[in-house]
Amino acid sequence: MATIRVHDKLFEPYLSHHAIAEKVKTIAHQINTDYKDRKPLFIAILNGSFIFAADLFKQLSIEAEICFIKLASYKGTKSSGQVITAIGLDTDVIGRDIIILEDIIDTGKTLHEFLPQLHHQQPASLRIVALLHKPGSSIHPVHIDYLGFSIPNKFVLGYGLDYNGLGRNIDEIYKLVE
Ligand code: IMP
Ligand code: MG
Repeated sequence: MATIRVHDKLFEPYLSHHAIAEKVKTIAHQINTDYKDRKPLFIAILNGSFIFAADLFKQLSIEAEICFIKLASYKGTKSSGQVITAIGLDTDVIGRDIIILEDIIDTGKTLHEFLPQLHHQQPASLRIVALLHKPGSSIHPVHIDYLGFSIPNKFVLGYGLDYNGLGRNIDEIYKLVE
């Protein structure tokens, strides 16, 4: 199997570009149906979600807006447990149909910190879309309304996800060889 090395670690192919693209199409179709005539505001969480956000957004046929915030809790291949807001929300949320867009939900810590802040600003509705979920490492359970893939508790990279800054440009998702 074609393994790749990123920094000091080996990764093996896990989810193909084709499988990801099909899933993105399915999720977009569901959102197009559910949000017909509603003009939702997507809030994508940087950095990891930028490729998923772009691909999903291009598949939307409804009127929709998108903005970005930057929250981070990861160092290397382990969650640091501390969530830092590096770029905050600059768009009004009150009365809007909000869809949070995440690359991966792991411990749930990031959203556990962010969701109460958002509720406080009184959106009309709030849903979550995530490409990946690791239910095995959940500390704060998060209800995901639109999910791509449920995956085992293994570190992954590619398609926007990084290992210490590298690997985001890889077109498919790889997992750590242990
Ligand atoms: P949580 O707060 O633990 O749910 O982590 C959420 C964030 O950690 C994600 O949005 C990712 O940016 C990052 N993350 C979690 N698991 C992985 C992984 O396997 N590879 C790369 N980044 C990850
Ligand atoms: Mg992220």
